Amino acid sequence: MTTREPNVPGELSLVSLAPATLTNGASVPTGSPGVGLAATRVPSGPTLPDLDPASLTLAISRYVNELYAAPPSAPEPVAPAAAPSSPIAPSLDAAPAPIASAPAPAQPSAPHAAPPSQPSQPAYDSARNPFDVELRFDSLAAAMQAATPEVLRFALLDQDPALTPHTHARRPQQPPPSPTFAPATQIETDTGLALSPAGGPIDAHALKREFPILSERVHGLPLVWLDNAATTQKPRAVIERLKTFYERENSNIHRAAHALAARATDAYEAARESVRRFLNAGSTRDVVFVRGTTEGINLVAQSWGRRNVGAGDEIVLTHLEHHANIVPWQMLCAEKGAKLRVAPVDDRGQIRLDEYEKLLNDRTKIVALPQVSNALGTITPAREMIAMAHRYGAKVLLDGAQSVSHMRQDVQQLGCDFFVCSGHKVFAPTGIGAVVARAELLDATPPWQGGGNMIADVTFEKTVFQPAPARFEAGTGNIADAVGFGAALDWLSRLGIENVERHEHALLEYGTARLRTVPGLEIIGTAKEKAGVLSFVIEGHSTHEVSTYLDKHGIAVRGGHHCAQPILRRFGLESTVRASLAPYNTQEDLDALVDALCELVGRGSA
Ligand code: ALA
Repeated sequence: MTTREPNVPGELSLVSLAPATLTNGASVPTGSPGVGLAATRVPSGPTLPDLDPASLTLAISRYVNELYAAPPSAPEPVAPAAAPSSPIAPSLDAAPAPIASAPAPAQPSAPHAAPPSQPSQPAYDSARNPFDVELRFDSLAAAMQAATPEVLRFALLDQDPALTPHTHARRPQQPPPSPTFAPATQIETDTGLALSPAGGPIDAHALKREFPILSERVHGLPLVWLDNAATTQKPRAVIERLKTFYERENSNIHRAAHALAARATDAYEAARESVRRFLNAGSTRDVVFVRGTTEGINLVAQSWGRRNVGAGDEIVLTHLEHHANIVPWQMLCAEKGAKLRVAPVDDRGQIRLDEYEKLLNDRTKIVALPQVSNALGTITPAREMIAMAHRYGAKVLLDGAQSVSHMRQDVQQLGCDFFVCSGHKVFAPTGIGAVVARAELLDATPPWQGGGNMIADVTFEKTVFQPAPARFEAGTGNIADAVGFGAALDWLSRLGIENVERHEHALLEYGTARLRTVPGLEIIGTAKEKAGVLSFVIEGHSTHEVSTYLDKHGIAVRGGHHCAQPILRRFGLESTVRASLAPYNTQEDLDALVDALCELVGRGSA
């Protein structure tokens, strides 16, 4: 096989892993069979701990993909001639993940795809791509730690020593293409733009490799994760951050006690700053860590609500609410003798702003609304609704559970009084989320739980509370997962939320067009402004039947009421099937979904 040592700073080369000495005299870690990649470092480049392993992994994957972009008949991968601008160089120079800029390789043909327009060009052959198996991140990370400052060398795979073409059976039992739907390459979006094979500027195929769980197989088939509105998967950057926390920083947070306490406190407070930056809050004092959106709404209802809502007052919600943004307010109303009022939606699932405005008056104490509906995907006109509520002197809580991972957030520009979100919907661990509100408002709000960490002074007669945010963080919090939350938001910022938005929008249009070709399928929720949610029902097939059928094909969707019964009943339904998108989803994921649905419909009802 072709072997060439790197000799240009920052260059990456394919080398054998036989014991060897590089041209610059550095020794090479040995003992691992297979194939290695070596890169010399840019002399003025970052120090080892500054390198972002996930970015490096991605860059290496892309580099190998390019090597393998040879015609399938080529006997061996051939390393390119030395070039001053190696594909690895950008990620050695800077941490940001090189997602959007690299040219996306031509994609493997879907079973129903039209023939490539330029058949004479060598096609990227996914069957020959060793990274379709796995890039062992743990060995990569270990290699990075162990490497000399000059040389990085990675064992790519434990097996496959000769880089034999890997036969990756993506979908052995692909249903036959149905005559009822159009070839993917002919589908045009509503805006008239044909989708690029990768679905947009994000290279979702490369991105998938940053998520170890996405190479899982279920029922013997590759996992297609389309249940992102329920929870998102976690990138290596987050998994590694948690590992580092538990291996090197774990302590309770009480800075003065000892070295690890200082490390844990610093990590926890750095995460608070990451949340602040991601949401553009004014200060870290505005950011309270909670378990998630549900706990955040309960916090506001039981602390701010109990103090400020009284008998005869009104709380305005929308018909789109998740149960978590209904029940806490109902409980408050029952306790205080206040009243819930509900802004209706039209037949597309869009808020009727005229009706909403009619509900606002000087008894309205708070409006609580979602930025994105979890059941339909509707993006609400939150900024306008917040401004309208403020004209009547009402406070506004914005439920950002379903929006944080899909669109840029700026709580100052939105003008909401409380913003709540969950980490696990945005690539972070479960059990962590945030309430964001101006510190003056939080300081004027009584705590809702008492305990350690939230006090300034305690006697048996009286307790003096800390200012925000500590007054709302009683007891030992979810320290490690808060750190993971910060890592997830930093990772997403590197990916670029605008890139995510564009990618998901293109996929949403593609998926909508393809789903509409499935006989008997009706999409529920057709708002003009929608995030990546495809909710649907199929005539003659229960949502349970559809979702379990999809599961057998390795496709994860949610079937049920999505904890949003009122909005489904608005459409005369008790449940839907919901496919929900993330930046790692591809056109092929949606093709797999539609193919399986066509197969189900073709078989008739169970
Ligand atoms: N709220 C989550 C969902 O919509 C659980 O699925």
